[in-house]
Amino acid sequence: MRVLSGVQPSGALHIGNYFGAIRQFVELQHEHDCYYFLADLHALTSVHDADRLRGLVTDLATAFLALGLDPGKAALYRQSDLPEIPELTWYLSTVTSMGLLQRCHSFKDKVAQGVIPSHGLFAYPVLMAADVLIVRANVVPVGRDQKQHLEVTRDIVASFHATYGREVFTMPEPMIGDEVAVVPGLDGQKMSKSYGNTIDLFGPEKEIRQRIMSITTDSTPVEAPKPKEGNALYGLLKLFAPAGERAWVEAAFDEGGTGYGEMKKRLFAYYLATFGEARRRFEELRRHPEEVEAVLRSGAERARAIAVPLMDEVRAIVGIR
Ligand code: ADP
Ligand code: TRP
Repeated sequence: MRVLSGVQPSGALHIGNYFGAIRQFVELQHEHDCYYFLADLHALTSVHDADRLRGLVTDLATAFLALGLDPGKAALYRQSDLPEIPELTWYLSTVTSMGLLQRCHSFKDKVAQGVIPSHGLFAYPVLMAADVLIVRANVVPVGRDQKQHLEVTRDIVASFHATYGREVFTMPEPMIGDEVAVVPGLDGQKMSKSYGNTIDLFGPEKEIRQRIMSITTDSTPVEAPKPKEGNALYGLLKLFAPAGERAWVEAAFDEGGTGYGEMKKRLFAYYLATFGEARRRFEELRRHPEEVEAVLRSGAERARAIAVPLMDEVRAIVGIR
């Protein structure tokens, strides 16, 4: 089975991205033929600073490797290293109805968050369809927020096939990780870089500690039992606590006697136990950007081995050259 997914290099990675996406990507590489890419063309819808974008791409690639992506198994590449993707996007655009794109929630959501309502942002799902089709992916692991985009991809495939009377593309299926709960941010809302409530995966330890110590809590006295429902600190402790410490977490909330400050210190210790090794690998790899670059180049070659012959077929079907 061929698996594909992409992540936008549009900000520092946070633990929500790890538990909601990257952890699954890394696990899937052991069983399937996996293609993962850094969606830099998509990121251009919100990042308009060349140096910043290049830095974000390198950091994201470094993060994937530090978090366990094995380039001997999965292909990791930059979207922009496949010129076939924007070319295919155009062919797909000509069979995509305006109405289909007008129904997408994410355009409206992003505009509400302050992203420029550009044509690129509106056409974003067509570029996404090209990402998926270009390597003939069967399955696309994504978060719930991307499910509609996968449905758009499927509609575009059907429309292309109906228009030209040829079944050239592989129909992809979304794979939605239901079992992954939404990771709460410092303020109890969904953790998201757009809400400024994240705990990052990388970056100075001191800052991470400060962020954890600033998790919003109520004013329950130390001696009293603490509410768990809607409590961001409880949600995060549950996510991180190793099996042997889960009973401690439950007792700390149910029985009282443990202050929020002490719980936050534990959470920081669990964070380091979970990500300390990856954080060290990240720093080490950062000193060798040429190794990261070599991984991206060889990943792009693997993807192009599928994309180039597919595009020969597509051009023949649409009548270009
Ligand atoms: P952000 O909301 O910070 O902009 P993205 O939309 O770039 O994050 O998300 C990238 C991936 O990480 C997606 O697959 C998304 O489902 C997952 N993800 C992001 N935030 C969370 C969260 N709080 N909990 C679980 N998964 C998340
Ligand atoms: N839009 C996805 C996100 O924001 C990233 C993405 C771009 C993607 N192209 C894709 C995901 C193709 C899966 C398949 O998370």
